[in-house]
Amino acid sequence: MMLGRLFRRNRYPRARPLRWELTDELLRWSRDDIWTLRDAVEGTLILGATGSGKSSGSGRTIAVSMLDAGFGGLVLTAKPDERALWESYCRETGRLGDLIVVGADAERRFNFLGHELNRQGIGAGLTENIVNLFSNVMEIRERGASSGGGREDGTFWKQGALKCMRNAVDLVSLATGTVSVPDLVRVVLSAPLATAQIRDKDWQHGSFCFECLKVADKRDKSPRQQHDFGVVCDYYLLEWPNLAERTRSVIQATFMGWADMFNRGLLRELFCTDTTLTPEDVERGRIILVDLPVKEFGEVGQFAQVLWKYAFQRSIERRNVAASPRPVFLWADESQHFVTSYDMQFQTTCRAARVATVYLTQNVSNFYAALGGGDKARAEADSLFANLNSKVMHCNGDAVTNEWASRLIGRSRQFLASGNNSYDAEDQWTASLGLDWLGHAGHTSAGYSETFELEVQAREFTRLRTGGPANGWMVDGIVFQNGRVFEASGRTWLETAFRQVP
Ligand SMILES: Nc1ncnc2c1ncn2[C@@H]1O[C@H](COP(=O)(O)OP(=O)(O)OP(=O)(O)O)[C@@H](O)[C@H]1O
Ligand SMILES: [Mg+2]
Repeated sequence: MMLGRLFRRNRYPRARPLRWELTDELLRWSRDDIWTLRDAVEGTLILGATGSGKSSGSGRTIAVSMLDAGFGGLVLTAKPDERALWESYCRETGRLGDLIVVGADAERRFNFLGHELNRQGIGAGLTENIVNLFSNVMEIRERGASSGGGREDGTFWKQGALKCMRNAVDLVSLATGTVSVPDLVRVVLSAPLATAQIRDKDWQHGSFCFECLKVADKRDKSPRQQHDFGVVCDYYLLEWPNLAERTRSVIQATFMGWADMFNRGLLRELFCTDTTLTPEDVERGRIILVDLPVKEFGEVGQFAQVLWKYAFQRSIERRNVAASPRPVFLWADESQHFVTSYDMQFQTTCRAARVATVYLTQNVSNFYAALGGGDKARAEADSLFANLNSKVMHCNGDAVTNEWASRLIGRSRQFLASGNNSYDAEDQWTASLGLDWLGHAGHTSAGYSETFELEVQAREFTRLRTGGPANGWMVDGIVFQNGRVFEASGRTWLETAFRQVP
């Protein structure tokens, strides 16, 4: 049943290339089927049931090939054992010195607001970037909260809270020349609740919001800042105090729900103090592993990772590939925990930015559910799947996934026996798999009809080997790359095998 075996090019360690070409070979799916850097930066999706061999089969092979080629990267973790796994990959490829662990000790910190500010200074899209960053991370939280329905309603409050944040960021940056979460919170909590209050001296003395308005008013401002300040004044002096009490309090609560997370505990330490590590470090070959596995750290782990992911995506998209050509990977096992709608957009720029995304998950339904369910989620997930060009399917019992994979590989013109003719057992077996059939067609021209059949039936995915002693440590996978015909199979798909390394 096996067509190709995985052939790795060299043994480690070896000298790493200083330049990277898109034609560089990373690994081989079979003796004649090369997987190149170009293939890698077109994205990879690995699917398979729990224990099917995603991590120890294709995952390991791909990870090691990228480390071996000198990639930098970001690793998001769902399970506590992933750190040890990556340490072993790095040790094997001589990359241990490049591995940087972001962990609960908060030794590796990243002040995302400060980073954004230093990068571009006040103005020039700063506010929108910060608001987008929050909005992206919060998508995760809303997903959990919106499962009870009322999505429309949620969108309304979210828009209100984003507007609230936009104005707070503008006001704080105009007044203080910097932005911090505590200052954003202080502004929102001290904004006037009624028009009359604005003239009240006591309120003025105690309000950080008023203080900021006063200071920002006196400061020298560029024409753009002057315009932004006008918008901010309208918001705090007219719109906010005149909102209906209930509306205002829900918007404020929504905003506080977001800001509060970064204003306390581990997230504050990791993201709102100083900076000892930035996403740009991956361009220098660092492998940043966020060791706050979702299974252990829950929501906090998930937020931290999504924040790192988004910051990484934005930073790597901006890089000048001519000056900084090192390929990098974005790695996420159990990737349904980390997927956000920005991924679809990011994936379309990965190739130019030389980012090899590798997402592993058990089944496609995980993604549909993670993106909120319904038609929109399905469309988003399908768009992401389409942009992860290499797909490796391992053993799976999930009917939805198996049918999805079967449809993905598609139909081909096949010749079916009409009844009387027979051929030997060996041929029948390969024909049923859609393998190598055309080679036999010359011998059996009569008595066959032509139909369009699924190349790989859904049930085939339930029969792949899953490693372990019972399978001689072999893991099977079916590889599909859109637009590719594999040498070893002559087909658009290839069944290959991975040897587990104890
Ligand atoms: N290094 C190894 N050597 C031998 N067997 C292994 C090794 N790693 C895992 N196994 C076994 O091989 C099978 C596949 O494991 P693997 O962890 O790769 O699956 P997986 O698809 O990543 O599962 P999950 O979704 O739970 O992460 C399991 O039965 C596991 O116990
Ligand atoms: Mg795994």
